[in-house]
Order: sequence, then C-alpha cells, then structure tokens
Amino acid sequence: MTDRKVGLEHGLTNYGDRDFSLYLRRSFARSMGYSAEMLARPVVGIAYTPSGFNNCHRHFPELLEAVKRGVLASGGLPLAFPTISLGEVFLSPTSLKFRNLMSIDTEEMIRAQPMDAVVLMGGCDKTVPAQLMGAVSAGKPAIGLVAGPMMIGRHRGEWLGACTDCRRFWARYRAGDIDAKEISAVEDRLAVTAGTCAVMGTASTMACLAEALGMILPGTAAIPAVHADRLRAAEATGAVAVRLIGSNLTPNRIVNEKSVENALRVLMALGGSTNAVIHLTAIAGRAGVELTLKRLNELSDTTPVLVNLKPVGNHYMEDFFAAGGMGAVLRELSPLLHLDCVTITGESLGERLASDSDPWVDRSIIAALKEPLERAGGLVALHGNIAPKGAILKRSAADAKLFEHEGRAVVFSSLADLAGRIDDPALDVDPADILVLQNAGPHSPDAMPEAGYLPIPKKLASKGIKDMIRVSDARMSGTAFGTIVLHVTPDAASGGPLGLVRTGDRIKLSVKNRRIDLKVEDAELKRRAAAEKAPAAKPNRGYGKLYAEEILGADEGCDFAFLRPRIGKA
Ligand code: FES
Repeated sequence: MTDRKVGLEHGLTNYGDRDFSLYLRRSFARSMGYSAEMLARPVVGIAYTPSGFNNCHRHFPELLEAVKRGVLASGGLPLAFPTISLGEVFLSPTSLKFRNLMSIDTEEMIRAQPMDAVVLMGGCDKTVPAQLMGAVSAGKPAIGLVAGPMMIGRHRGEWLGACTDCRRFWARYRAGDIDAKEISAVEDRLAVTAGTCAVMGTASTMACLAEALGMILPGTAAIPAVHADRLRAAEATGAVAVRLIGSNLTPNRIVNEKSVENALRVLMALGGSTNAVIHLTAIAGRAGVELTLKRLNELSDTTPVLVNLKPVGNHYMEDFFAAGGMGAVLRELSPLLHLDCVTITGESLGERLASDSDPWVDRSIIAALKEPLERAGGLVALHGNIAPKGAILKRSAADAKLFEHEGRAVVFSSLADLAGRIDDPALDVDPADILVLQNAGPHSPDAMPEAGYLPIPKKLASKGIKDMIRVSDARMSGTAFGTIVLHVTPDAASGGPLGLVRTGDRIKLSVKNRRIDLKVEDAELKRRAAAEKAPAAKPNRGYGKLYAEEILGADEGCDFAFLRPRIGKA
C-alpha cells in the first residue's frame, strides 16, 4: 500500500478542503466523458504545440494520436495541453525573444497541472530548447518527441531544402541570375511537407542534440516528419512516458555536465547550427551546468566533422536518416563520448550503442571517425577586444581563405541602417572590407534576430562576390553559410565594444589564434564610449518589460536571470 499520489490527485486546486477538491476535479474530468477506470490511471501530460502560425508542426494532430495510443496501451491516461508555439518565420522581431516565454509556459503548466510524466512535442527552432529548458526546471519525468524534418522539394531538376536553398536562390535573384518568375516558382517548392527545415539547421541540430543528451528515444531525431516511422516513434514515446512514471529519471538528472559535453561533441561532428550554442548553454544552465567557450574550443579542436549535410555539405536530413542517422554518428564518436550517461530509456548511452541492431552506415553522408570530412569541429569561439565575452564562427560553413584577414570596417549601426544602405550603389565598400552590424544583440529592441548573415552588398554580389567577413552581435540561421562572426558579447546595446567600431577602423580576424580585434587605441575607444548617446528607453509593460529587464547575454544562453539556478564552474 502506498500513499503516493497518482494522476488527477496531484496538485489539487485549493478550495480549503482536499476531498472536495478531488471530488470536484473528478466530476469535471468526467464531464469530458472519461470512465472512472481511466480517471484512476496515472496521467501523461502532452505539451502540444500545433499552431496556425507554425507550418513545421502541421502534422501534430496525427502524431498526437500516436502518442496517445502508446500511453493508453501502457496503462496511462494521455491528456494533451496547449502551450504557446513558436513558428520561426511568423514571429516579430524574432522567435528567440519568445523562447523563454515558451519555457516558462511549459515549466509552469507541467508543474501546475496534475500529471505524472510529460511528453514534449516540439520541433521548430526554438520550441525544442524552450521545452527542454522548461522541463529541466520543472523536474518531472519528461520525454521529447520532435517533429522530424521536411522532405525535399524539386525545381527544374534540382533538389530544394528549406532553408539553405532559400538563401542560395535568393542570392542568385539578388545578383540578377534568375528573374522574379523563377524566384516565385522556387517559393512554391522550398517547403513542401510538414516538418522542420530539411537541412542541418537549428531545428535538426537541436533534435540531434536532444538525442545526444538522452532526452528523446534513440534513433528518432532524424526520422522525416511524414515517415511512418515517426508515428511509430510517437507511439513508443507515449509508452516510455508511462514507464518513466515514479522513476527518478528526470530531465535535470539526464542533463548533466557529461551529457552536455556529449551534445557539444555531436554539435561539432554535425557541423551544426551556431544557435545551438546559445540553446545548449541555456538548457545546461537550467541544470546548473556551465558551458564555457573555452571548453567549446577544446571539444571543437578534438572532434572532427563527420556529417555531410547542408548547409555545410551536400545532403539533406532525409538522406541523413537513410544513412544511419544519429545512431551512426554516436557510434563513430563513441571513443570521445561519456558512454555512462543515462538516457531516457534507462539505458546508458554505451548500452544503447551496444544494443544497436543495425550498424549500417552510408559513408558518403556519415564519415568514419578515422576518415572525417574535417579534422576539427564545425564551430569555434573567438575572443578579442571587440568580443571580451566571446563570439562564434561556424568555420565549417566559412571560407578558409578569409580566416586570417585584416580589413577595413564598414559599419551599420542598426538593422534599419543596414536595410537602408546595404544596396545603395554609392556605398563605399570593397570585397576585402569587413561588414559590421551593431545593435542586433539580445539587449537590442530587435532581440538578437538571425540577421548576422548580412547580405553581400548588391554592387559586389552582382560582380560575383559570394562571401565577405561579417561581424555582428546577432545570430545566424542554422541553414545559412559564410564567414560570419556572430553572438559578439557583450552586445552593442548593453554597452559592448562592438558599438564603438566606426567605418574605416581596421579589424583583424585570426581563426588560428581564436581572436577578433579592433585595431584602435584604448584611449580612442574610451573617448568614443564617453560620447555614446544614452540608450533608448526600455519597454515599460508586459513581456517586453520582463524581457528587457531579465535577458542575459549569449554567453549565458540568452536565458532570463531569474530562471537559472546558481551555477558552479564546470
Ligand atoms: Fe520551422 Fe525551419 S521554419 S524549423
């Protein structure tokens, strides 16, 4: 006999009479047509995030049915509940601004509603990090189920995958290579099914990192959204959620220093999204684990790139799945991983890999550890007098010819300034210059949009220039590419030195030395700092006020200060 609470008995609404509260709750639950037998079962909540503003989640109704099937067959009662959803391209100024709001929503609803375990259904870029952050903080048994990637589209014999090919074709359109009719045809064919972007962008990177952390079922990160295997994965996820009930296998235990390191290794091997550094830092931070850029560089230098997917390579997520997916990547990386990390099934990562029944791998897409695509990882952190708290460069998506380069800064003071002048035929710019964007970081009113992929000025693009060094405090879409220094921290809007750069200054990038420096005397920088205008007034109400007051820098995952536990040095 146990007095452990089950299902609807959890967290009663307070009417001052516990028995009355339970009686009332059961009565209202019965009004939904459930039998007494069903209402006596343990409850698996399902954080459910379809939205008319989220194309990536449009198959969620079918997936939900499969999750429920798994829960019911295993003796639980599945109860779906909505949280906000973040459809990447439908949010202004940027979805990152609302990631923390979604994490708060997820955490509070997991905690406030009567459930014994929870399935987190997410997929589009910020949804998976938001759900993991919320679940780590909530501390209840939880398992993720990701949307899975879109299938590729086709255009005049070419494959199209959102959104690397979106950018490729847009660049061709800007350069005058293709006309308005063709770009309109491409618009129709870029995103042709439900699911997340078809390349190793942020959504797919985060799905793979969720698997590396142990928070979703083995082998499920890369299953295409519309594949029957995804429905089977959903059913299995529901079943495992029931098995988690009563266990101490909570996300705050699964996410720990070792599993975060495993995820970082996987990020490097994938040549994954720069955004993942921010998200992983935030997820780890919720578990009290600090992810330092120094450690990132150590792991990057000792983890080869193994995966040949766009935007860095040639293939798409559906190819990755068919090539062996995350199981194959983890197997290759296993000598470098902490194999004792526990995963959501209760198995250790090592046990998972040992029990892998199909070790087949397509080497054209997933390279062997001994014969990698690149000897060192895809991302590198830089420091320097422009970025005292760091910056990120995706070296695997950059032009190595620009890695050791000094050039003249051409500065845009804001996104509006960039939009107003980048294509001005009178813009004084040369291919050897370094484009600098200020005031697009987390503390800016634009809340760190994916604007770090500054377009090549039209006058240079039309002459065939495809890449230049670009430096900003913004982010970059995981599907983009170029020699782009991002996440410069502290950002300009919080008083960082990036805001002191002026057109004509010299900037030196040295990837070899992990440096990015402004060649301007300290005294001159002090003079510029003293002459800076007072920052614009902050929002005085609502979520905008909370965001402006609590947002942390990229080095702390752009989380809110009050959501992070005190973090010890890792
Ligand atoms: Fe949702 Fe790309 S728009 S993952």
